[in-house]
Amino acid sequence: MLRSHTCGELREKDVGSKAILSGWIYTLREHGNLNFIDLYDRYGITQLTINKTLMPDGVTKESVIKISGEVLKKPEPNLKLATGSVEVKVESIEVLNKSKPLPLDLDNPDTSEETRLKYRYLDLRTAHMRNNLILRHKAGIAVREYFDNKGFLEIETPVLGKSTPEGARDYLVPSRVNQGKFFALPQSPQIFKQLFQVAGLDRYMQIVKCFRDEDLRADRQPEFTQIDLEMSFVEEDDIYEIMEGMVKHVWKKSIDVDIKIPFPRISYEEAMLKYGSDKPDLRFDLEIVDVSEWAKKTEFGIFQNAECIRMLKVAGEFSRKDIDKFTDIVKIYGAKGLAFLKKENDELTGGISKFISDVPFEINNGEYVFFVADIQRIVAPALGALRLTLGKQLKLVRDEWNFAWVTEFPLMEWSEEYQRYGPMHHPFTSPNLEDRHLLKTSPEKAKSRAYDLTLNGVELGGGSIRIHDRKLQEEVFDALNISKEEQEKKFGFMLGAFEYGAPPHGGIAFGFDRLIMLLAGADNIREVIAFPKNKDAEDLMMNSPSEASDEQLDELGIGIKK
Ligand code: AMO
Ligand code: AMP
Repeated sequence: MLRSHTCGELREKDVGSKAILSGWIYTLREHGNLNFIDLYDRYGITQLTINKTLMPDGVTKESVIKISGEVLKKPEPNLKLATGSVEVKVESIEVLNKSKPLPLDLDNPDTSEETRLKYRYLDLRTAHMRNNLILRHKAGIAVREYFDNKGFLEIETPVLGKSTPEGARDYLVPSRVNQGKFFALPQSPQIFKQLFQVAGLDRYMQIVKCFRDEDLRADRQPEFTQIDLEMSFVEEDDIYEIMEGMVKHVWKKSIDVDIKIPFPRISYEEAMLKYGSDKPDLRFDLEIVDVSEWAKKTEFGIFQNAECIRMLKVAGEFSRKDIDKFTDIVKIYGAKGLAFLKKENDELTGGISKFISDVPFEINNGEYVFFVADIQRIVAPALGALRLTLGKQLKLVRDEWNFAWVTEFPLMEWSEEYQRYGPMHHPFTSPNLEDRHLLKTSPEKAKSRAYDLTLNGVELGGGSIRIHDRKLQEEVFDALNISKEEQEKKFGFMLGAFEYGAPPHGGIAFGFDRLIMLLAGADNIREVIAFPKNKDAEDLMMNSPSEASDEQLDELGIGIKK
């Protein structure tokens, strides 16, 4: 027998009995003839006492040992440990696997992430990572339990597929059998889940891996997990209700927090205007204000010629250095500068006060106003980013779970990269039906039936009511400048399916990693993924991606370009 109990199991009731424990050595202390060992495993820590003469070679920290001995009552209980009222007096000890000194200090929270990822199997021994994985497990169970109770079916979808348009680049997989041809890994199961609706399966869900070749950020990984669902015969409110219920259930089951539902809703337009973001952080109230009409008539040249001028007003003390930092932040979003004013001793001073002597809004002593003037597409996100910085710096952010639905997204969005309009969500999203006539004339003005759920300024999930009619789908493809030929080649099967009784349907997908990150209070999703990629989309432990052998490439009929 390798163990009778785990390292987190023994209690006062076990005093007097024999126990066999196996685990890792957390600490090792010598006290004259007596040694003290803290033995740990996933379940906890048990204190051992062992006579020095019994100690074999190789009892180093992090080695795996097996011991047997008698459970004794601890003279002074250790209140920090669940097992703290007992200790085990070791009668025999065996080293099952000796550990070299670890290449990283598991107790040092500042260990570089590079080292942590390289030795992830050791990093996962920390309570921090273990707890995150346990939380992930619990939340996953709660999600499945919730949807099962609501009559959803979990159905797997293929990983080897065809390009699915979610706006990122595809990961391609070469086919050996069909040389020169490639599968694409799914950016999401979007098309399949819609086809389940055509098939009459009604309520589908899946916790599913998705793959996107895009620039990585704190909340983006090349492979990530979605809670994906789709439902027939639903409208927006049905989806909101189901997902609010899921959030409530998951928060209760995994961290025992009661979330208040329903969640507030805010239109995309209002979110962009007031918060400069389609994922507004509503844990603080600071709002952006449009002052274009007045500002254009001031003496300040930059304002006179701008399309849009908006401002943020805050009370605070800011140094030259702060203002330079704020200016650098708005410049990231394409703004050419950051103008400001402040009020002191009942007078406007600093910044552009030589051009502006009076303002049409209230401003108190000790308040600053920051302005950005540019096209709207630049002003909104620039001030949105400044708003977040100010919120953090001035400690305005409340400690709360702040959920909000963002609704009424435009159907299309301008892509700087491709210099054309593309779908804001994906091309299967239904336009607002009153806006259908705009598809031929000015599709960029059409609104869609898409929605996102945000939590504390993070986009947790997004979805839409879909098109279920071939004619409308073709009109949207046309508006997106997808040629008839391409429509047929890429989505012919889907257009075909829409001609055999496709029901009205809609759905949503939540980022599961993001949800766990927020539940865990972590600041990046790598903390809640067992084996994540680093910022350069590499796995530092396995050293992947890596070169393929000439033999493998030959079999695939692939050559590498120099
Ligand atoms: P969308 O592209 O908005 O929608 O993705 C849904 C959610 O998935 C999460 N997410 C990511 N998480 C980590 N790393 C990434 N690279 C990443 N990309 C997305 C986000 C996001 O809100 N098929 C549609 C859903 C639908 O319409 O039903 C879709 O995939 O939390
Ligand atoms: P300048 O005349 O370029 O020295 O700019 C005067 C002030 O206006 C500086 O504080 C700039 O940061 C700011 N500024 C310049 N361009 C803009 C702009 N587009 N929007 C807001 N402020 C600007």
